[in-house]
Amino acid sequence: MPNDQRSLTERSRASFYEAALPVMPFLVPALLAFICSAILSWRWDSWRGRLGLEDGPHFIGDLPTVLLIFCTGVLVIRLGHVYAQHRLGHRPPRLVRQIIALTTWTVAVGAGGAILWDIPVGSLMTTSGLLVAVIGLALKNMLSDLFNGISLPVKVGDWVEIAGAKGRVIEISWRATKLVSTDHVVVVVPNTQFITNTVRNFTSERGYFRDHIKVTLPMTVTAYQASRILLGAATQVDTIASLPEPPEARIAGFNEQGVEWDLVYSIPDVGMSNKLRHRVQRSLMRDFFLSGIELPAAHVEIHQPAVVRSNEPHTNEVVFLRLIDLFCTLTEGELRKICDQMKPRLLEGGMPVVRQGEMGDSLYIVHEGLLKVTIETDNGVTEVGRIRPGQFFGEMSLMTGAPRSATVTPMVDSKAYEISREVLAPVLRDRPEVAALMSEVLAERQIANAPKLENGAAQMDQRETLSQQILSGIISFFRLPVKARSYSPQV
Ligand code: CMP
Repeated sequence: MPNDQRSLTERSRASFYEAALPVMPFLVPALLAFICSAILSWRWDSWRGRLGLEDGPHFIGDLPTVLLIFCTGVLVIRLGHVYAQHRLGHRPPRLVRQIIALTTWTVAVGAGGAILWDIPVGSLMTTSGLLVAVIGLALKNMLSDLFNGISLPVKVGDWVEIAGAKGRVIEISWRATKLVSTDHVVVVVPNTQFITNTVRNFTSERGYFRDHIKVTLPMTVTAYQASRILLGAATQVDTIASLPEPPEARIAGFNEQGVEWDLVYSIPDVGMSNKLRHRVQRSLMRDFFLSGIELPAAHVEIHQPAVVRSNEPHTNEVVFLRLIDLFCTLTEGELRKICDQMKPRLLEGGMPVVRQGEMGDSLYIVHEGLLKVTIETDNGVTEVGRIRPGQFFGEMSLMTGAPRSATVTPMVDSKAYEISREVLAPVLRDRPEVAALMSEVLAERQIANAPKLENGAAQMDQRETLSQQILSGIISFFRLPVKARSYSPQV
């Protein structure tokens, strides 16, 4: 028998024993009671005479039968649970267990009573039929809740939306189902509502489901740019990026404000929807701002401060560079000089921009999208960091002349500005704080990478010392004035 098949049989046998085990402690006393009552009823006629109870209780003779009925009742209940567990694949819900117990005990008590007191069951059932009908009519709603409860399309733990209420199912009882919302509010929904209303069950077989954010962007934003920003913002959230189905950006329509975009991404649990939505929208706000995109005032879910732009060339780029830490101290003229010479690069998702071990002499500042940094060692490829809009990469080779220390690959289509060593050299000469800040970031990244590189861990000094060493290297590599050495950045 194949291994997996055998383990399945073993597993179901184990679960059968597990479910049947609780009945064992009951069986031994039940058997003893049955044997005692059988002996009692067998010998009762002779014992009664000896005890002087000629008229004495006649039901003793029926005791073994009644006991047998009750023992059978317990067995039926237990076997009912085992069967339900077998069919459902999990422990039967409380409601199902209660119904099995109630039905069995009703039959057992009825049969036991009929035997002990010689009640004519047949005629009693006929006369009680009318009574049952009257009770049934009076308790119509309750019974409807009860029977609907048995076949509810949800189970405890599911996330559902029904009749405007959304929450996780925490209890299913005879009459109603309790949900608890993300705000910890308990909502009680009568079971009938699950049959008369549309129920949305968010519990997915795949282990995640898709959530949406709708954004209207101005017509001036190209589809490529919108995709880069939207997909980049969603992928920046680790929980979303770690799920198998990647985010998607679709055009949902057009209106007088611009283009309606639908950003779709995976989330593991509907209870996290609001939290993840907030994080994606926060990334969107920042990335729209960095890209100089002003959202139309109406019909948007995100609001942002207005970006003041002039009509001079490269104004957007100047605003962007001024917003990033590295260049925030530079004057308008200095920034413009860099903007005139830097090159916008559209980076295709999955295609490395720089590769570990290659020589390189340019720095990239990410404008839109998201990139990952990986290091390859004998143990395989490890991700060491991610670079989002406003951050830079490529500074290690540019500043030290060493080969690229890592491979940088866009996770989604992205956009970056490439700044060459010739463009940066005069900036570094005039602005020691830029070199100092770069050496800080460089030191931080080297420290982060050290444990992943076999020979690097032992050489890592304290962050400040390392950053000073790197700065000295940069000063001699770029032949900067020595005053840069004494610069201490105020970060
Ligand atoms: P460089 O060595 O020129 O090329 C690869 C780049 O990856 C490197 O410069 C850094 O800019 C960047 N990089 C290396 N390690 C990290 C890290 N841990 N986090 C973010 N970026 C990194």
